[in-house]
Amino acid sequence: MRITVPESAVPVQDIDLYDPRTFSEGDPHAIWRTLRHEEPVFWQQLPDGRGFWSVTKHDDVCRVLGDHESFTSSRGAILKMLGTPDPAGGRQMAVSDPPRHTHVRRPLYQLMTPSALRPQIPKIHAAVRKLLAPMTSGDTWDMGVAMTALPMIVSGILMGLPEEDYPDLVRSGLMTVAPDDERFQVGGSAEATLHQAHHDLFAYFAAQVRKRRRNPPPDLADSDLIGRLMTLRVEGSRLSEGEIVSNCYSLLLGANVNTGHVVSAAILQLMDFPEQYEKWATDESLLKPGIREALRWSSPVVHFLRYAVEDVEVRGRKIRKDDGVVAWIPSANRDEDVFDDPFRFDVGRRPNREIGFGYGPHRCIGAVAAQITLELTFQEIFARVERFEQAGEVEHLVSNFTAGIKHFPVKVTARR
Ligand code: HEM
Repeated sequence: MRITVPESAVPVQDIDLYDPRTFSEGDPHAIWRTLRHEEPVFWQQLPDGRGFWSVTKHDDVCRVLGDHESFTSSRGAILKMLGTPDPAGGRQMAVSDPPRHTHVRRPLYQLMTPSALRPQIPKIHAAVRKLLAPMTSGDTWDMGVAMTALPMIVSGILMGLPEEDYPDLVRSGLMTVAPDDERFQVGGSAEATLHQAHHDLFAYFAAQVRKRRRNPPPDLADSDLIGRLMTLRVEGSRLSEGEIVSNCYSLLLGANVNTGHVVSAAILQLMDFPEQYEKWATDESLLKPGIREALRWSSPVVHFLRYAVEDVEVRGRKIRKDDGVVAWIPSANRDEDVFDDPFRFDVGRRPNREIGFGYGPHRCIGAVAAQITLELTFQEIFARVERFEQAGEVEHLVSNFTAGIKHFPVKVTARR
């Protein structure tokens, strides 16, 4: 499915933003556009009695993600777990609120700033080149598969993980964000798949922690993100092993399921607009604005959930204490009140207030790492590829959490 201007409104009573198939088979943008116009703060009742609010306007998405005092992350942040308190709540950075959240986030971020990452650039560049090497071989190349593997290059380096473990870790990540996707299912159900992926990842990181405890490098705190988690102190105490492992899990997932989809979605769209591709590929000054536009366009992280801490009003609708509120990021990134002609991919779009990396205290901690990876990847593609042609069916992940492309076969015309 290419993202196009939605042709017509969707009857509000038919809207289902819970079902992952809405995102793989349907057109969620048609739904979000309808909601932005007709019911920007929307209550969906599920057949099992649960229900949740959806916010779809840029301002409201920023408000919900930015105001942790009214909308907490600590009870869970994923719609799939609606109504079930996240066991990692308050123990894992992504599902905790300031001030504890800040105490964990700040020392981790020190290893992910532009200056901390600069020495890693040659390594990342070499790995990107290796991944893209088959692109111009003349055969059909599956960009979806290659791009799914892309972020592991960076998370592997940041977390100090052995390269031979990458394929299993990528697969476990996909099982976690798309447990309903039959391609990644084990044990015949989404629940069994999630259970297996959690178990494998937690056991894996527990072993990584043990390995570092047995044989600590002299600079453990600075060696990688796992070492940093093992040594940091929060309000005077070290993190427990459970907390370390849970944060490793969150870092890996945060890193692994997004970055590559920005590339695939942008290239897929620009196949219909070759002049935009050429403009972007040949004008160095458009590299960064084009990447921002690709982030806006693809919005690979689809939603985050919060719970209302108290009764609160949004756009005149009363959200009650404890209600779940889902902030839809791709919808915010197409808001007609913020973006001119939002369904046009404009590599030179300025200003561009996209929020692909989220907003507020939880805004993506890996944004710099992702930005570096995207710059190196697009530069490499632009230098080597004159034109992409679709050479088979595009398959999307079955997920309401990650807008991902798992298969995207292309034929490449190499630049001379
Ligand atoms: C294009 C790639 C990426 C996108 C679009 C993306 C998007 C996001 C978004 C929207 C959030 C906000 C979560 C919230 O509000 O609760 C987030 C948080 C997070 N991201 Fe990313 N991310 C990307 C890459 C990465 C990378 C490379 C890493 C790690 C190296 C990473 C690790 C995390 C973590 C750990 C959090 C939680 C931060 C916190 O709770 O303070 N992400 N990301």
